[in-house]
Amino acid sequence: MNDSHYDFNHLDPEIEAQVETLLARMTLEEKVGQMNQVSPHWGGGELEDAVRRGEVGSVLNVWSVERINQLQRVAVEKSRLGIPLIVGTDVIHGYRTIFPIPLAEASTWDPDLLERAARAAADEAAATGTDWIFAPMVDVARDPRWGRIAEGAGEDPYLGSVLARARVRGFQSQGLAGGKKIVACPKHYVAYGAAEGGKDYNTVDISERTLRDIYLPPFKAALDEGAGSIMSSFNEIAGVPASCNAFILRQILREEFEWHGVVLSDYDAIGELIQHGVAADLKEAARKAILAGEDIDMMGHAFPKHLVELVREGQVPEALIDAAVRRILRLKFMLGIFEHPYTAEELASQVLLKPEYRDLALEVAQKSIVLLKNAPLEDGGAPALPLQSNARIALVGPLADDRAELLGCWACAGRAEDVETVLEGFRAVLGAGADLTYVKGCALEGDEDLDIEGAVAAAEAADAAVVVLGESAMMSGEAHSRAYLGLPGHQRALLEAVVAACALEGKPVVVILMSGRPLVLTWMKEHVPAILQAWHGGIRAGRAVADVVFGAVTPSGKLVASFPRTEGQIPVYYAHKSTGRPVDERGVIQFNREHKSQYLDESTLPLYGFGYGLSYTTFEYTDLAVQTPEVSMDGTLVVSATVTNTGERCGDEIVQLYIQDLVGEVTRPVRELKGFQRIALQPRERQRVTFEVPVANLGFHGLEMAYGVEVGNFKVWIAPHAYAGLEGRFTVVGSDES
Ligand code: BGC
Repeated sequence: MNDSHYDFNHLDPEIEAQVETLLARMTLEEKVGQMNQVSPHWGGGELEDAVRRGEVGSVLNVWSVERINQLQRVAVEKSRLGIPLIVGTDVIHGYRTIFPIPLAEASTWDPDLLERAARAAADEAAATGTDWIFAPMVDVARDPRWGRIAEGAGEDPYLGSVLARARVRGFQSQGLAGGKKIVACPKHYVAYGAAEGGKDYNTVDISERTLRDIYLPPFKAALDEGAGSIMSSFNEIAGVPASCNAFILRQILREEFEWHGVVLSDYDAIGELIQHGVAADLKEAARKAILAGEDIDMMGHAFPKHLVELVREGQVPEALIDAAVRRILRLKFMLGIFEHPYTAEELASQVLLKPEYRDLALEVAQKSIVLLKNAPLEDGGAPALPLQSNARIALVGPLADDRAELLGCWACAGRAEDVETVLEGFRAVLGAGADLTYVKGCALEGDEDLDIEGAVAAAEAADAAVVVLGESAMMSGEAHSRAYLGLPGHQRALLEAVVAACALEGKPVVVILMSGRPLVLTWMKEHVPAILQAWHGGIRAGRAVADVVFGAVTPSGKLVASFPRTEGQIPVYYAHKSTGRPVDERGVIQFNREHKSQYLDESTLPLYGFGYGLSYTTFEYTDLAVQTPEVSMDGTLVVSATVTNTGERCGDEIVQLYIQDLVGEVTRPVRELKGFQRIALQPRERQRVTFEVPVANLGFHGLEMAYGVEVGNFKVWIAPHAYAGLEGRFTVVGSDES
């Protein structure tokens, strides 16, 4: 057992014995009851009765500790065996203290910080009776149309794996409120982010190699870190929906990973096997799901309605039910719910929104902001940002004085009243004497509050305009995909008008962009001098933006998902394959044209790529050294470079290590992230940054679908982002050659 967090994969013989004793006393009906998870809104007044009869094993998203205790009392004191419920909650980026959305959190590239944020979220969740957190969401997402890109760590499996581990450690921390333990639930297993066309719940048809190389690693990392449960996804994979997919649920989880945790379906996903067209009715759905390896049916009602009869008819072996129930009971014993089923009702007021959690939310928000552009207004002049705090400021835009939208999607128990707006952040930073004019200018969508003239007048009367634009919280998240990724409503018109007014007088315009996904910013990049991507930044977003705009904090976030130039490029991501006719080579001349893998009418590069983000200072990369030009398969690649802060301010730089396997038995991406370090440098300070990467981490699933590293030549880069860097080479040799 690790001393900072619980590892729910570590079996304890004493608990195993308790599980067996209890299991032996259970009727088939009671066993199936443990496999049923319901929402508090289910069944009208029937929930208590069902719990009393032992027909419910867990509940989800019960927001009141009083209600949780009430239900728990029925389970413990009124049901025949007194088995407590497990309470699951969607704590996606904070419980009451809402942090930036996970995509923004990931843009900090700071696993320790995210571990602390996850721990804070778990502490608040524990204080309100939660035992089980339905997160981290570890779906690799390469399509910004997909609304759920907001919930994850972006496009890269390596970064996603590191951050998945950090979040599991945070959620499963020791020492949470009330002495409670919490179990994490990485989701949605698996390849949910690969939905065709970016439509939620849509078909996924990927190769087994892509599944194993790209989509599985963050799940494996989360389970290796001790996550005790997993949630299967809504989507099909190559014709088989995850909820009845024995290949992913049994073969991969149980046989290959040898993992003992609980598999939970997504909401009604077992029932939806009917709509998928692989089950004629709910009974067949139940049969397929249990045979494939589901342990708990979340709100599909298939298990509670049909498992008993399926066992009695001999269609499902009781041993499968026993195995599932063993896993569920084990988790309940491991979590300590049998000894401590209730949560002290006064705990919440001591834990929620603690000052240190509000401070932590501010730190995450500050570090998650990505400076996309910061140009001087005239050649050789100073960049637009940071703004002088004595400047006259016009603060404009639909999100400049908004609270609720800054919470983002999946805001759990977050409340708009907890949020600091950008306007409040500006006032706090600038003080009482500030010359600050606020004009909304337009709504996020629709014609309400339209006042472009007012915004222009404010900009004309000011020294600088700050325009806060973006998406509402409900434009991303579950079932909220978008086909157009521009600014909704009149926002573009508002921005154009303000830019035109300021351009005439040579004044800076700064855009603060708050969104749940990468947007298409091609016009903006051409016309606006400074752009800060601030995401949906949680309760401290307003203050974090103000700190960055006026220079108290130097921006340091870097993108974890590519920003396309146009929707037609999607999916666009850095770790693509070379193809036989790469765009950056000459191409084959046929019919007098170079035939290459490209568009006639657009670049193949993203507008802002993976790993990209500017600072108020500048960093220079020099003196790459590959200490291991020849390295054996069981060895460690060692590469270093010097990074120097060449500017006038201190700042953090996220230094990235990429490799390319030049020749493989199957094709390899043009670059793959294999390491990163966030370093802090004073002006003119330099640091030698060394990466040590086990060669075993440089492998992939080859022709026979086995994971391995191949001997041969590689390129390596130490880089500020995925499209730059110092390049070196190394060779992997067989173990006996080195
Ligand atoms: C979502 C899950 C979530 C569950 C319970 C589903 O619709 O896909 O992410 O955990 O609901 O709220």
